[in-house]
Amino acid sequence: MIMSPRTRKLLLTAHVTTSVGWCGALAVFLAHALVAVMSREEQIVRAMSIAMGLTAWLVIMPLSLATLVTGLTQALGTAWGLLRHYWVLFKLLLTAVATVVLLLKLGPISMLAEAAGKATFSSSDLVGLRTSLALHAAAGLVVLLAAVVLAIYKPAGLVRKGPLASGAILVLPLWVKFFGTVIAVLILLVGIMMFFGGHGPGAHAS
Ligand code: HEM
Repeated sequence: MIMSPRTRKLLLTAHVTTSVGWCGALAVFLAHALVAVMSREEQIVRAMSIAMGLTAWLVIMPLSLATLVTGLTQALGTAWGLLRHYWVLFKLLLTAVATVVLLLKLGPISMLAEAAGKATFSSSDLVGLRTSLALHAAAGLVVLLAAVVLAIYKPAGLVRKGPLASGAILVLPLWVKFFGTVIAVLILLVGIMMFFGGHGPGAHAS
């Protein structure tokens, strides 16, 4: 169902606010994670680790889910459609990957924040986990920035439906081949890391 212009603007405001807000919140998380990795001061590492837990649960996670919901509404309620344009489809895949990785990392993030609040915590504890969280946040930011670029440029390219006529060659725009390959590799890597590389929710916990 196509939305009225007034509803569309209202929901677009919500979509841009939540999605770009997600990028900003993740940048803050990354800054905290980098300081938590690099600092040798116990109080600083503690403070950063606790702040990472709060930012992840209270800001990043709600914004990621709101982005997904408002994005789906914008796609389904406008002529863009969900599976009509490659830029919308790719944004959906990028957002889905980023959200799944985030949800998997919430457990380890809580663990770090809880450990940092205990009297026995020292600045050399859970260094592997802190480093892993910084790397994931940096990679996540790149993924979200790719979604912003797709949203702003909206490169042309319609998703083909139905089988190709025999002998026909599927001609895709260059940017679709590039983004499609990068996203396919990303999904494959996340799958391999999770199921075979020990990168599930409990990774780096020791
Ligand atoms: C982190 C993820 C995302 C970011 C950063 C993002 C960002 C944006 C931005 C900045 C715009 C405004 C572009 C403009 O008006 O020129 C936009 C529009 C749009 N987004 Fe997203 N978005 C994200 C996820 C999604 C998802 C998951 C979907 C749907 C599956 C989606 C679908 C759309 C659609 C259809 C529009 C156009 C709306 C309209 O013209 O009314 N977005 N997005």
